[in-house]
Amino acid sequence: MRASAAGWLRRRLGVEIADPAGAEPSVIPTVGSKELVALLPTLLGLQGSATTVLLPEIAYPTYEVGAVLAGLSVRRCDAPPADAGAVSLVWLNSPGNPHGRVLTDEQLRAWVEWGRAHGVPVVADECYITLGWDVSPRSILHPAIAGEDHTGLLAVHSLSKQSTAAGYRGGLLSGDPVLVRRVWEVRRHLGLLVPAPVQAAMVAALDDDAHVDAQRERYRARRERLAAAVRGAGMRIDHSEAGLYLWATRDEDCWTTIDRLAGLGIVAAPGSFYGAAGARHVRLALTASDERIDAAVERLR
Ligand SMILES: Cc1ncc(COP(=O)(O)O)c(C=O)c1O
Repeated sequence: MRASAAGWLRRRLGVEIADPAGAEPSVIPTVGSKELVALLPTLLGLQGSATTVLLPEIAYPTYEVGAVLAGLSVRRCDAPPADAGAVSLVWLNSPGNPHGRVLTDEQLRAWVEWGRAHGVPVVADECYITLGWDVSPRSILHPAIAGEDHTGLLAVHSLSKQSTAAGYRGGLLSGDPVLVRRVWEVRRHLGLLVPAPVQAAMVAALDDDAHVDAQRERYRARRERLAAAVRGAGMRIDHSEAGLYLWATRDEDCWTTIDRLAGLGIVAAPGSFYGAAGARHVRLALTASDERIDAAVERLR
């Protein structure tokens, strides 16, 4: 599994990790990526440390869940803060859920430098990284960002999105061998191991690019149809340059938009669910079937 993961990281992301089969694992499988996101502060031994986890202003809720579970505080910010204070962990998410925002190389480098300067691990959730539309998202472990040294850096990947395999629960954690090993050792004692049949499925998925590219084209076609209809219905789409969602607004409270869409029989997610800064947006997913996307396009007309 590690060899396939290392091959995938090299081929698809241009990332070279330390010896994947060595005593210090630089990549490990996870039970999908959500449990890892929720448990990482605990697995790193941060619980009860009276420290703070930084997460994006508008964020997938599980970063906060994991911090709260470990008894830590959270602070939302999109740029490295002037004071490191009691920060013990930074979560980045690029491409982001819900808004599909992609961090630039400069932004990624600024976080890496900040983490190094303050001795704080920077963890990038990159589960949508193969789904760039208007830009090519870069991994935090790429040499253009991290140089040759992954110290203090971790990246999280998932087969759920790129291989449409959420039911298999296959994810990856890679990066700093010291941090990966710490996480791995605790996971073994918790029984958080990926069953061999799932690892075999992960190997098959990681070794094959054709299905990822075919699925990507399905998402691209849905995105084009739905984006045109959403704009045609008078909404603006912000960010959404990558990932599986359209981040749309009518410049009104998100619940008003949710209500309008519900009246058309279209279910979207309220932006406020992802943080106060999302209160005027809704998230429309490209994960529905072609037939359901076409029905939504008709209804928006
Ligand atoms: C940003 C982000 N991270 C992690 C996950 C978890 O996905 P999985 O556990 O299926 O790998 C999701 C799922 O929607 C997500 O949007």
